[in-house]
Amino acid sequence: MQGVTVVDHPLVQHKLTIMRDKETSTASFRRLLREISLLLCYEVTRDLELTTRTIETPLTRMEAPTLEGKKLVFASVLRAGNGLLDGMLDLVPAARVAHVGLYRDHETLQAVEYFFKAPSNLEDRLVIVVDPMLATANSAVAAVDKLKSRGATNLRFLCLLAAPEGIERFRAAHPDVPVFTASIDERLNELGYIVPGLGDAGDRMYGTK
Ligand code: PRP
Ligand code: URA
Repeated sequence: MQGVTVVDHPLVQHKLTIMRDKETSTASFRRLLREISLLLCYEVTRDLELTTRTIETPLTRMEAPTLEGKKLVFASVLRAGNGLLDGMLDLVPAARVAHVGLYRDHETLQAVEYFFKAPSNLEDRLVIVVDPMLATANSAVAAVDKLKSRGATNLRFLCLLAAPEGIERFRAAHPDVPVFTASIDERLNELGYIVPGLGDAGDRMYGTK
């Protein structure tokens, strides 16, 4: 699918299977999401541009590779996005962080915004939006709409699971934003949940219902 990368690394797929299992505890679910986020972060940043700087090793001077450009921004779609964010910050500790507070209205499935805070100068930075679930894509589209309205022009969307319907809607709304996911599942059910999926990511992460 154009603009969509499925991260099929065996470790990602193995951990994802444990996360999907309804017997997996909240503590394990959270730990696995953090572990997977390291591997997903590796993929979503694979083509970042490098420049060089001069350093002195103990033996000699060299031109050594270093990331080019301004610090990345990770934009976490609350609540569940924070499960991906933590591991990503382990890998890229200097990244800036935006928080986009959205919840899905259970009747309409529309995204309702309740919080937004982002670093300045979004226009100069790569913004990686993180949320484990891309279901109807209402939340993802709203998050990217908001970030673009605040100046972001260079974005990527990273999730754990995506529904085909969500990918289609997201790509139609934001064709310039590539999607990275660990799996494209079968479908959405009548309540807008991803099937087979893993249930409600926020509830499974935080032990709520
Ligand atoms: C979940 C998930 C996404 C959204 C996906 O969040 O983390 O943000 O649903 O569904 P969509 O693609 O149909 O919009 P939820 O609204 O349950 O909030 P939470 O993270 O606070 O639990
Ligand atoms: N949000 C979730 O957390 N899970 C789904 O399956 C759909 C939306």
